[in-house]
Amino acid sequence: MNKFTNEVWFVGAEMSPLVKAGGLGDVMGSLPKFLIRKGIDVRVVIPYYKNIIKNECLNIESSYPPGRVNFGEIPFDFGIKTARTDNGIPLVLIEQNHFFNREYVYGSHAGVSEYKDNLWRFAMLAHGAVHAMRVIGIPGVIHSHDWSAGFTPAVARHAFGDEKASRPALIFTIHNLGYQGVYPMDDFYDIGIDFKYNSPSGYEHFGALNSLKGGMLLSDVTTTVSPTYASEITTPRFGFGLEGELKRLYDKGKLKGILNGIDLDYWSPQIDKMIHYRLQNKNESYSLKDYGKWADFKSKNKGSLLNELNLPIRHGKGGKTLPLIGVVSRFAPEKGIDIFLDSLFNWDNFPFHVVMLGSGNSKIEEKAKYLAEIRKDRVCAIVGYDEAMAHKIYAAADIFIMPSKTEPCGLSQMIAMRYGGVIAAGDTGGLHDSVSDMMDKGVKNPTGILIKHMDVNGISWAIDKLYNIYMDENGEKWKSLVINASNQRFGWDDSAAIYENLYHDAISPGY
Ligand code: ADP
Ligand code: GLC
Repeated sequence: MNKFTNEVWFVGAEMSPLVKAGGLGDVMGSLPKFLIRKGIDVRVVIPYYKNIIKNECLNIESSYPPGRVNFGEIPFDFGIKTARTDNGIPLVLIEQNHFFNREYVYGSHAGVSEYKDNLWRFAMLAHGAVHAMRVIGIPGVIHSHDWSAGFTPAVARHAFGDEKASRPALIFTIHNLGYQGVYPMDDFYDIGIDFKYNSPSGYEHFGALNSLKGGMLLSDVTTTVSPTYASEITTPRFGFGLEGELKRLYDKGKLKGILNGIDLDYWSPQIDKMIHYRLQNKNESYSLKDYGKWADFKSKNKGSLLNELNLPIRHGKGGKTLPLIGVVSRFAPEKGIDIFLDSLFNWDNFPFHVVMLGSGNSKIEEKAKYLAEIRKDRVCAIVGYDEAMAHKIYAAADIFIMPSKTEPCGLSQMIAMRYGGVIAAGDTGGLHDSVSDMMDKGVKNPTGILIKHMDVNGISWAIDKLYNIYMDENGEKWKSLVINASNQRFGWDDSAAIYENLYHDAISPGY
């Protein structure tokens, strides 16, 4: 009898809606749902963050025999629980209160201030996941996500053997190369991982310990979250020091870019319960005739949001309501929010409303709050994480801005388009793969502008261009941008099929 089950186990630090700090949570929550719909048995392993996960979203099923791991001299016990999300996705929760019963996933400020013991916390996730496989059943495929699950391949190889036939197939997905889990090499001896993986073909990188590098090199295949990012990261500009390894994998066909999707049932302007007004149109696709419904949807959501935030509704030429520019983002330097703020500081009397939601880097937070302070009549900056407010901004924004300098995939632009927003975004990674640039003559159905030079001038130019199209009396160009954007369907069907094939390939002996 085959010793492996036919399951695919996801291992990662977040899973929406239980626990989410950014897009990783969305993907860990939605890709399994669509794989399960295709008949694949998926289970998701996450830490049991008792302080974060709401019990009412979770149906705990069983507890399994606990495990123990030595971190250096110190033994740590952990528990294994199985559960199910409300929508039926099977879960394995790693229960270790000292490490996981915290207020945040990675640390305060959207992961910018990290907990000092994150190395141990996420090594615990790997040990817990592999222990759970032993007691529940060894899956055919382990699919680990990001540096925080980067130790899973080593712990699995140690437990089941390095030989392909003796262990599950190992797949590793890079959601963001900017976060690699880099620590002093001496710490390697304190995380319960076999020392043989402390080598350049494992976790060692220029004398440091690098979780993401080992996670990728000890897996059978690595994926990342868009085709453009997969090729970008093989170059020094985007490779964060791992471009050599990434290029080798890419050339061998062992680094693949698979575009993320969003959960179109959850992000739906027709049924979203968190927004002020829902779209009164049941169509699956829209034509210019439907523009009136979209204009109504935007104007009502914009009016209600501005009211809720105490921002006056401002009008321009001909009494037309000025556009609303929306931001929903981690405030990390690579997201370019600081450049967007600079472009607004430099722009006297800018003729639009701005609503920003985000948290992270404290300088960017302070800068956003300061702009809102001096431009009280047109800017609101909400610092924090607020799921409902994010939905309201997507529903209200005429223009959604994502001025990223690098973006592995980006989900916010996909969500914003689903809610009829026109995009201004950096021309990089998944933004390049999902936004159709109106400046590109070859593009038939543009959905926004891709900014080639991500600086103050580039952003101001793009906003000014979209502003003029929005305000144009004739309005035909704006209408078609909105209709094109709202017709985009970045669901999971295509990409889930690609993952399904990849799982099949990865379990085959020669792969
Ligand atoms: P990243 O994963 O790099 O943060 P993505 O665009 O892939 O970027 O995904 C971001 C996800 O997190 C989206 O679902 C977005 O709505 C959500 N998000 C980001 N910041 C906030 C916030 N401050 N409050 C609520 N949701 C947020
Ligand atoms: C990361 C990336 C983002 C991507 C998300 C989900 O957080 O920064 O671009 O969309 O992961 O894969």
